[in-house]
Amino acid sequence: MTLNKSSQLSWWQKKKRSIIKRLLIRFVNSSDSYVIQHLPEILSDTNIKFSQLRESWIYQNEDNNNKDLVRLLFLITTVEELKKSNIQGALAELGVYRGNSAKILHSLCPERDLYLFDTFTGFDEKDCEPEKESAGGFSNTSLEQVQNFVGKKDTIHYFQGYFPETTHQLDPNIRYALVHLDADLYKPTKSGLEYFYDKLVPGGVLILHDYNNSRWPGVAMAVKEFFGDKPEMPIVIPDKSGSGLIRKV
Ligand SMILES: C[S@@+](CC[C@H](N)C(=O)[O-])C[C@H]1O[C@@H](n2cnc3c(N)ncnc32)[C@H](O)[C@@H]1O
Repeated sequence: MTLNKSSQLSWWQKKKRSIIKRLLIRFVNSSDSYVIQHLPEILSDTNIKFSQLRESWIYQNEDNNNKDLVRLLFLITTVEELKKSNIQGALAELGVYRGNSAKILHSLCPERDLYLFDTFTGFDEKDCEPEKESAGGFSNTSLEQVQNFVGKKDTIHYFQGYFPETTHQLDPNIRYALVHLDADLYKPTKSGLEYFYDKLVPGGVLILHDYNNSRWPGVAMAVKEFFGDKPEMPIVIPDKSGSGLIRKV
């Protein structure tokens, strides 16, 4: 039987760990918006630097993302679980905006291919129904800005333009361990499900941001339609915008 790593630590190592943990909790709670009692145990067993990830998470998006540290922790624990359970495959994100969630995914898995899809000019007018949204929502970003933040590396692949049209440039044989759908609207969410579902490996995860969010009803509509005849069902995550999580059978 192998011992749990933490029981092999010296008294001083354990003490140091507990002091750091308490300081981190005080730091996270200092925003006064979200209160968490403890960072997940998983963070103390890895090289993850939570404060660095938090900096990336709120970079140029502090107003929204500082109120949603639960979502950041959710992304971290989901990726770590994939790595621990040895689920192989690339990562993809539809809906990148300024690159905050993309940066987190890449920081946690720098060796895996990461495929990023966005117009980088905001919502396309083709997607504005049925929600009656205006074209150009989330246009205050650019491909260059995101590349400078997330990185320009061989493993990071940017697809600028209208999804799903941009998928024509992509090898259909790529298999994914994690797909993050965060395009807010019905049409791109439905297209994202149609494109990625069959390409997700068994045990792979599909993160459906805004699934339980009345501000973006098209996401739940697309998910309910698509999963009507599939074996999986979403679990709702208690983050600010009600992300949904599906693990492929
Ligand atoms: C909420 S933002 C993404 C936020 C990002 N995932 C984060 O957490 O940092 C939604 C993005 O989806 C993109 N988007 C929506 N529909 C799209 C489509 N059909 N093709 C490409 N990008 C689209 C928008 O341009 C916008 O940048």
